[in-house]
Amino acid sequence: MTSPADSPAQSAPTKHQELLSWVDEIAQLAKPDKVQWVNGSDEEWKEITDALVEAGTFVRLNEEKKPNSFWAASNPSDVARVEDRTYICSEQEVDAGPTNNWVAPAEMKETLRGLFDGSMTGRTMYVIPFCMGPVESDDPKFGVEITDSAYVVASMLVMARCGQKILDAMGTDAGYVKCVHSVGAPLADGEQDVSWPCNDTKYITHFPETREIWSYGSGYGGNALLGKKCYSLRIGSVIGRDEGWMAEHMLILKLTSPEGAVHYVTGAFPSATGKTNLAMLEPTVEGWKVETLGDDIAWLRFGPDGRLYAVNPEFGFFGVAPGTSYTTNPNAMRTIDKGNSVFTNVALTDDGDIWWEGMTEEKPAHLIDWHGNDWTPESDQLSSHPNSRFCTPITQCPVLAPEYEGEPNGVPISAILFGGRRKTTIPLVTESRDWQHGVFMGATVSSETTAAATGAVGVVRRDPMAMLPFMGYNVGDYFNHWLEIGKQADAEKLPKIFYVNWFRRDEDGSFLWPGFGDNSRVLKWIIERLEGNAEAVESPIGRVPADGALDVEGLNISEDQLAKASAVNVDEWLEELPLIDEWFEQVGERLPSAMRDELETLRTNLDAA
Ligand code: GDP
Ligand code: PGA
Ligand code: MN
Ligand code: MN
Repeated sequence: MTSPADSPAQSAPTKHQELLSWVDEIAQLAKPDKVQWVNGSDEEWKEITDALVEAGTFVRLNEEKKPNSFWAASNPSDVARVEDRTYICSEQEVDAGPTNNWVAPAEMKETLRGLFDGSMTGRTMYVIPFCMGPVESDDPKFGVEITDSAYVVASMLVMARCGQKILDAMGTDAGYVKCVHSVGAPLADGEQDVSWPCNDTKYITHFPETREIWSYGSGYGGNALLGKKCYSLRIGSVIGRDEGWMAEHMLILKLTSPEGAVHYVTGAFPSATGKTNLAMLEPTVEGWKVETLGDDIAWLRFGPDGRLYAVNPEFGFFGVAPGTSYTTNPNAMRTIDKGNSVFTNVALTDDGDIWWEGMTEEKPAHLIDWHGNDWTPESDQLSSHPNSRFCTPITQCPVLAPEYEGEPNGVPISAILFGGRRKTTIPLVTESRDWQHGVFMGATVSSETTAAATGAVGVVRRDPMAMLPFMGYNVGDYFNHWLEIGKQADAEKLPKIFYVNWFRRDEDGSFLWPGFGDNSRVLKWIIERLEGNAEAVESPIGRVPADGALDVEGLNISEDQLAKASAVNVDEWLEELPLIDEWFEQVGERLPSAMRDELETLRTNLDAA
């Protein structure tokens, strides 16, 4: 055993002095038994996953079914992002804005110092150098995550580019985001560990000015894999604001038409609202092809030609498991079937494979559920947590676009989709009149809450640009940044913005639109609109498909259903107006006046309708 006082710098695989002294400083504070630098090798992966199996955190799956893959069950209290425990600790409270929790940075640092003091006792402190986005890009964005969780190390190795090659690329002085994570479960001498260490006290904290992240008490992906939501969205959005680009909660897909025309599209939908599915869908319209570039996060920067280019900073998919099947999302199934994956809070089959609700029509006769209990189809409980997740390498996706690796500076975006999960009001697809109107659509996105975050499910809330839980700064400033981006480019070079809703319901509660692969029909209309080949009609809320413009050939949907899915219902929209008024009140004085102008235009249009 090495004491933390033994400088980890001596065995460290880098000459980056500032990094070495920071690692030393955290080790002094958290007092781990030892420090281990993560190099990303196959031997290291084996060592770490073997140790996780030994500790009871992982169960190794059947090699024939899911090679090199693992099942994990969390503590039942640690299953989702904790928005009420997430803080943006900017110097000024107003810079965190009305939508984020805020504590002054000095005060939060003091709290954290107390919590992290000795928090890694009895454990290994891992140091994970990582890069969000390709290292070969013009402006690689580095991070280093310190964690006392081997589960986090294994998951980070899937989700981000990590290890010695990153450390080498960082050289002796590259800047990086400092990410500190502890499950908050120190072990006394000889104390037996539990399979999922965590703490009832949780803090997910961000320091935008100093570009730091400190996360305490949770092992769940969204709270603990700090390259993802914390860096690529919260701190990323702040860096983007300062440097003139955007960090967004968006999938990226490549669409090729039957004529061979290529378009890249991004889409922002709230957590558990269809990004992963849309990103890799199998089109049901003849001759169209979809390839994937990303399923959760996009960084958008201007290219030399004045167009917006999107890069996926991640290296894996951290997808919602339930509902994923060979029918709904065959490409996700093919990706995980190649193995090398971690499954958390799903059920375990008797032959060492995994299962979740919706994977197959027929339920297995017997399972071990995510609580570790016997489960049969007669059980009145779900076998898998609604927010159970697969964590799998993106490079295994059979429809990964070659540009994912081939274009380290990203792909030019033709269209941006915003969407939410709404039973009523929001039609299948609406085209914005211009950038500012599109920003208004994004700024007023509403959606029913899902199991991706703790708290009530199914409550309609505003989730602007699907970024409500991920904005690293004041929401009014964030809207203004979107408007400013629009002013920096010629209108015809900007992506066109569309608003979609796959989740509208009939009176009997059933979905009006079949969704999934059939969403390609909406994508087709969007691309045809960009190319000037599809008809639209003006409505009070924007342009909607003209009668017959949406390709529904071969689709099993009645005319009545299609009409209801696509309807702009003025009465429903009149009920929406006060909700938008209320939302803009909440945004407060930093709301750009252009957003109020758009709201007045909407009101006038609806009154005239
Ligand atoms: P993400 O978290 O935004 O990436 O969302 P996912 O793509 O993982 O989907 C979340 C949930 O919504 C899953 O249970 C999906 O089966 C379901 N879902 C995704 N797309 C559709 C759709 O087009 N229609 C319907 N009805 N459900 C969908
Ligand atoms: P999701 O990602 O958007 O795929 O649900 C995780 C999250 O947002 O918490
Ligand atoms: Mn997400
Ligand atoms: Mn997803």
